[in-house]
Amino acid sequence: MEKHTIKGANSSGDIFIGMSKEEVSSLLGDRNVIVLTDEHLNLLYPLFLDGTPRIVVPATEASKSLSQYEAVMNQLLELGADRSTFLLGFGGGMVSDLCGFVASTYMRGLDFGYVPTSLLAQVDASIGGKTGINLSSFKNMIGTFNQPEFVLIDPSVLQTLPEEDLRDGCAEAIKHFAIKSAEDFKWMQTNAEQILAKDPDLLAELVRRAAPIKIKIVQQDVLEKGDRKLLNFGHSYGHAIEAAGGKSHGVCVAQGMLLAGRASKEIGSLSESDYQRLYDLISAFGFDTEEKYLAADLIGAIKKDKKKQGDTLAFIVLNKIGDASIKSITFDALAQVDIS
Ligand SMILES: NC(=O)c1ccc[n+]([C@@H]2O[C@H](COP(=O)([O-])OP(=O)(O)OC[C@H]3O[C@@H](n4cnc5c(N)ncnc54)[C@H](O)[C@@H]3O)[C@@H](O)[C@H]2O)c1
Repeated sequence: MEKHTIKGANSSGDIFIGMSKEEVSSLLGDRNVIVLTDEHLNLLYPLFLDGTPRIVVPATEASKSLSQYEAVMNQLLELGADRSTFLLGFGGGMVSDLCGFVASTYMRGLDFGYVPTSLLAQVDASIGGKTGINLSSFKNMIGTFNQPEFVLIDPSVLQTLPEEDLRDGCAEAIKHFAIKSAEDFKWMQTNAEQILAKDPDLLAELVRRAAPIKIKIVQQDVLEKGDRKLLNFGHSYGHAIEAAGGKSHGVCVAQGMLLAGRASKEIGSLSESDYQRLYDLISAFGFDTEEKYLAADLIGAIKKDKKKQGDTLAFIVLNKIGDASIKSITFDALAQVDIS
């Protein structure tokens, strides 16, 4: 088991990698706990913290909405939650984002923690203290920076994760490695088949390699003023693809990384051979690498990106596998970059 600590602006939190979910009781002590989970996890793990009140939301991204936020707030009231209540998010990134935002705002703030259950949540969404919900089709427009008191990561729960959701998490792991670690990138390419076959040791190893990359970036830039923006590699295009609907976050990130890789090549920062390595790894995880997009079609949605400042965007370019940088680029210039 590895323990890391993230010091936030107002609070700090511990992240335990490789701890059994049953051990969560030792972190909770005798506090009044309410579990927030989704309907899949509720059915799959009925005995998790047996006897603890549960709020169950539909297992869909649509639960990160203002209406579902209000519904959860009302259920907290009905359950008699007060400031001494601890809210525990048990689920994927949808649950952790919603749980963190509810906990940040109910009665001006409850203590909260996560037991993330999807690969995406274990290597990305549960780490870093960004909480949030969507505003119509625009992702994470309403939210807070607030570190959970703890994140308990138990890779054994990934055995029940459907294949499509496993691949979604792989997209975020590929992103971490692409921007920060050529060695882990190579490891992922070598082990793609066994990871997709859910080899338990390799999944645990994947989490052990990927989660600390995000932790380290966040530790150095909790409020995303600088290098934390690198984690948005592929996300400007990805969120624009996602806004059109019909594709999961991971698929959009995978396709967005490919487009950002092409843009990096066009801009002259990425070599053809490193672009090919990116393409090969994304393709090894079964993502559609052939779908065509035009910059002009995506630019409208990219203009709504939270990383914009006036008419420029902090765009993440890949310099080589394992190294990325932030480039300020105008929307007009970005619209001209050939990503076809
Ligand atoms: N806050 C952040 O920093 C951050 C970063 C990246 C992504 N996100 C957010 O994370 C969300 C995506 O996360 P996600 O992919 O985990 O989506 P999700 O929470 O919707 O989970 C995907 C599906 O997997 C199921 N699932 C989860 N764990 C399971 C398990 N162990 N066994 C069986 N089924 C399981 C869920 O029920 C759901 O059907 C998006 O809303 C995205 O915006 C947030």
